[in-house]
Amino acid sequence: MVDLSTTVGDLSLPNPVMTASGTAGHGAELASYFDLAELGALVVKSLSVMPWAGNPAPRVVEIAGGMMNSVGLQGPGVAGWIEDELPALRDSGARVVASIWGRTVEEYRQAADALLEVQDDLLAVEINVSCPNIEDRSKMFSHSAESASAVLEATQSIRIPRWAKLSPNVPDIAEIAHAVWHAGANAVTLTNTLIGIVLDPVTGKPVLGGGGGGVSGQAIRPVTLRAVYDVSATYPDLPIIGVGGIAAAEHAVQYLRAGASAVQVGTATFENPRATHKIAKDLGRWCREQGVERITDLIGTAHV
Ligand SMILES: Cc1cc2nc3c(=O)[nH]c(=O)nc-3n(C[C@H](O)[C@H](O)[C@H](O)COP(=O)(O)O)c2cc1C
Repeated sequence: MVDLSTTVGDLSLPNPVMTASGTAGHGAELASYFDLAELGALVVKSLSVMPWAGNPAPRVVEIAGGMMNSVGLQGPGVAGWIEDELPALRDSGARVVASIWGRTVEEYRQAADALLEVQDDLLAVEINVSCPNIEDRSKMFSHSAESASAVLEATQSIRIPRWAKLSPNVPDIAEIAHAVWHAGANAVTLTNTLIGIVLDPVTGKPVLGGGGGGVSGQAIRPVTLRAVYDVSATYPDLPIIGVGGIAAAEHAVQYLRAGASAVQVGTATFENPRATHKIAKDLGRWCREQGVERITDLIGTAHV
């Protein structure tokens, strides 16, 4: 029997496979496909302090090896989520990770404070800093060590672990990872989507209603895997959750070997709603076939 349990910092998980934020709904949407309690954890779509309408349609477009989205963080707001979505998630037995976003440091602070009353129902809070900072010419928080750190400092009312979700579009992601770690993040989630754009060749206009968007899926895996590899090489003690283009157990193994303690599955869920669950199961099978007794034996082995 393979031991699939892992830890992210001080947090124990029965297996290392979670859903990626924004790709598994706000609540228990995937419960009709598999038992949510069998996942390492379920990360829900990022929430802001207020309800948010998101971007105009079309919001997604298929590209070679993946997709591009410009959903624009549509959501019910933290209070609406607590009332309408959390009860079903609680009943499902899922280990729930909430995710928050904001347009200003103050909005992150408010979103964090709004979650305090339900902290006991949550495993962790992922702080999605891959969002435009409207107080800094809409530069992404995660593109600046200073802004990303300010968000972590503003959310320290949260007493459960906080994971900082970073963007890959930076020259030195290890520098940003170190900054948020120093500012209180218990782990970093690497990474969010790559920024991109698809233009209509006839009109010259962007295909997505929001203009540009975030590129995800298998096409981005070498880039996001490299982010994990580089951060782990520089800061081997910083817990990392790897995400980007994972569509099979073998992809998850690459992330673990690169230094991630756990992984998240996003775009693969749109092709197969059971993907996250299947990858968790297949990981056990892969380890058995390869004679790996404990999944943790794989973590960071690329650097040995
Ligand atoms: C439609 C869609 C919506 C997303 N929404 C969020 C979100 O709300 N918050 C967040 O942190 N990441 C969001 N992401 C990014 C994913 O969580 C993940 O980091 C990224 O897609 C890379 O993983 P993948 O290649 O497995 O999809 C979204 C991705 C997609 C495709």
